[in-house]
Amino acid sequence: MFGLGGWILHAQWRAREDARLALVEAANAYECLLAAPPADMLPVDELVKGREVFASTCVACHGALGLGVPGLGRNLVESDFVAMQSDEQLQGFLIKGRPEARPVAMPPRGGRDDLTDQDLGFLVMYLRGLQDPRRMPELPALAVSTQPMVEQAAAALEAAGGDAELAEYIASGDRIFHTACVACHGRGGTGIAGNGKALASNSFIQSLDDDALLDFIKKGRTPTDPKNTTGIQMPPKGGNPAMSDDDILDVIAYLRTLQPKAAASASTN
Ligand code: HEC
Ligand code: HEC
Repeated sequence: MFGLGGWILHAQWRAREDARLALVEAANAYECLLAAPPADMLPVDELVKGREVFASTCVACHGALGLGVPGLGRNLVESDFVAMQSDEQLQGFLIKGRPEARPVAMPPRGGRDDLTDQDLGFLVMYLRGLQDPRRMPELPALAVSTQPMVEQAAAALEAAGGDAELAEYIASGDRIFHTACVACHGRGGTGIAGNGKALASNSFIQSLDDDALLDFIKKGRTPTDPKNTTGIQMPPKGGNPAMSDDDILDVIAYLRTLQPKAAASASTN
């Protein structure tokens, strides 16, 4: 029905139109997902494993429900990017992360080298369930283990040389650190490349007394500060304005326990 010229024009128009529709679809991938009939129910066992990995690794930056944490990780529930990717693509993304993203990077494997590709596959399923509750079966209640808290308290008491009051500050600082600072500084202050420095065996920490360190943590360090060594921001109070001086002093007591013995005792008061 078209002459040759008309046919070429039509083909060009079609190609442009297809590209436009693909873009519109990509920009609305999450909406389209919820508008379409749901895919199969997800398997409970794999979801439980995915939830476990999510709770131990991704929560710090993406929040307990995956809705994101301001200044850290994005909302994964309403993410068009997540909705658009195939399972394999999404798993591939989690393996690589977005280490170049600024001001905060999405670290490869969420910053945990010990997560296997299979663990990340379970995570992909869990993300599917978070995005589309119609596919999420009822999961058994999260088993809350008190073991880590018992271990934390014992470690704190040992670090405090048996001083029960100091041990309490240290245990509290340990808890605060592992919610407010862990996303960028890693478990036990081991650091996450591209996000935050190692704070264990850290000479900057050892060089300051508690007051000066409190002052530093309250102010943070901008990327343009001449003392900045990574080009990445250390946000004031780790980005958590609600944190009190007492909270930060507890964190400092905990940070002292991560320094070699001689250096730690020199500056503790
Ligand atoms: C240290 C903080 C941090 C941790 C830990 C982290 N992420 Fe992220 N994540 C980010 C940031 C920041 C971004 C956005 C990067 C950007 O600006 O492109 C992101 C982006 C993503 C995206 C892409 C979302 C989109 O819409 O573009 C997915 C998916 C994701 N993260 C999943 C995870 C999972 C699953 C885990 C746990 C294994 C995890 N992340 C752990 C910080 C983190
Ligand atoms: C969003 C990421 C992020 C969070 C959250 C964060 N930090 Fe940082 N922090 C950084 C970065 C990046 C640096 C390194 C800045 C530089 O290059 O000098 C840093 C540096 C530091 C330093 C100085 C280390 C040195 O050797 O110069 C201390 C101390 C510190 N952070 C403590 C904390 C504490 C305590 C918390 C939690 C209350 C916290 N940070 C939360 C990103 C973060």
